[in-house]
Order: sequence, then structure tokens, then C-alpha cells
Amino acid sequence: MFGPLAPQKYVRLIKTCIGSFKQTSRHRCLSVSCRSVEDIRRFISENTETVGQQSLTPEVKLRLFTPNCRFWRERPELWPFDDPYWAIYWPGGQALSRYLLDNPAVCRGKTVLDLGSGCGASAIAAKLSGAAHVVANDIDAVAAVATHMNSELNGLEPPVCLTNNMIGSPAEAFDLILLGDMFYDEALATSLHSWLDHCINTHNTQVLIGDPGRAQFEEHGIRRLLRLLAQFELPESVREENYGLTCSGVWCYRPEL
Ligand SMILES: C[S@@+](CC[C@H](N)C(=O)[O-])C[C@H]1O[C@@H](n2cnc3c(N)ncnc32)[C@H](O)[C@@H]1O
Repeated sequence: MFGPLAPQKYVRLIKTCIGSFKQTSRHRCLSVSCRSVEDIRRFISENTETVGQQSLTPEVKLRLFTPNCRFWRERPELWPFDDPYWAIYWPGGQALSRYLLDNPAVCRGKTVLDLGSGCGASAIAAKLSGAAHVVANDIDAVAAVATHMNSELNGLEPPVCLTNNMIGSPAEAFDLILLGDMFYDEALATSLHSWLDHCINTHNTQVLIGDPGRAQFEEHGIRRLLRLLAQFELPESVREENYGLTCSGVWCYRPEL
């Protein structure tokens, strides 16, 4: 999945470390379904590093890929899972999580869905901000395990983690849907757009989007229906990893705008 969906300006880290996994994915002999959760937890522990300070949310600790991790340089054909989006804290998710932590009233007491949750940072930020119920949804089952581990790392009960594709399914009664860096592919953005309209029409759900200004986001029809709530300068190390990106914004989607 990673290769064709990766926007051109994606992180150097992904080019060097993860992008090449795609070439070998069909040869992988192991899959999530063959492995126990304990195996996956061990794998994540052994192949990530706990980091915090270098992101927009230094108060949130996460297990991520760093140059100290084996697979930073390891032969990609040895990687046993789908491409590890969950091992990166994406600039859109960073801005969104920063915004939630700075504005806890946005989440307090709410039922929140973090769609495309990856490492789970925005779900964690929602929990830290006092959300009543948080669901983290990612179609990669390894992301669910990473989200559990990252929640525990921050002293939190993990959110409910779902791995089904919710886009296009009947809307559930969420007060707030979070989308961190989910507008990296035009087809995904378009299906998200109509599903968000359905959620808003059915439950008056609030939608917040974090995005660093990717072309697929800036050029999409949803863009003119968004209101900028906050913009953050990315830390130097995040800029270096995300070639060409300097800022990341948080947007509110109200289709009637
Ligand atoms: C660019 S990453 C962003 C992760 C996280 N939100 C962040 O900002 O750090 C996109 C994530 O969306 C997930 N994803 C892609 N399509 C999805 C879908 N239809 N439903 C749920 N998750 C999806 C991927 O597995 C990946 O973890």
C-alpha cells in the first residue's frame, strides 16, 4: 500500500527505510493473522524506540522508527508486515494532537473517533484531554497493537481499537472525528469526504483534520469547505524528516461553510 499512495514529498525516512518495503510485500511469508498479539508486541518492542521530545507533542511518548532501529537499515524483504505507517508520527497527526492538548474542551466528555490512527497519538491526546470514550480505527492490525502499547507508555487505558474499514459504513454516533494526515491519496480523500458528510448529516459530528499542506489535500474539493483553526511550525527534526514541509495545520470541516 505504501509505495503508490506515498505523496512525492513524503519523508526521507520513508524513502530510505519504509518505501522499499512495498517492493517485497507480496513475498512476505508472515502476516498479522499468523501471529499472536504477544508476538506482535515483542516485535514492536524490539524494532522501535521510545521517543517524545522531537515532536509537536513532547508530553506524549511513542514507540517509533528511529535510526537506532534495526529495520532502518535492514533488508526490507525481512519486514514481516504491511508497510509500517504506525511507526511514524505524521505531521498532520502531530498538529492535530497538539491542538487537542492545547484545547481540551474540544474533547472533554466527548465520544471521539481517531480514523487512520496509526501510532495512536491523536487518540492518546483525546484521552489526555478528557474524552469520555475514544475509538482508534486503523485497517492495519499492527497499528492497533502499537496504539495499545503507546497508550500504556503514557499511563492510559488503551482506546477501543477497531481494524475494519469504517469509511462508507453506516455512521456511528461520534461527537468528534479526528483525521491526522489522511489526505495523502485522492481516492481515499474523496471517499472520506462523502462519508464525513454522511456522519455530519446523521449525527452532527464535528470533524477535525490535521494536514501539513500536501498537494492531495490542498487540491481536493473538501479544502474550500474547511476553516483553519491553528497552524504549527514543525520542529527542525520533523522538517528534516519531511522534506519540503515546514508547517502543519488543523482544520474544521463544516459542509455548510
Ligand atoms: C499517514 S498515516 C497517519 C497516521 C496518524 N493519523 C498520524 O497522523 O500519525 C495514515 C494511516 O491511515 C491508515 N488507513 C489507511 N486507509 C484507512 C482506512 N480506510 N481506514 C482506516 N485507516 C486507514 C493507515 O494504515 C495509516 O496508519
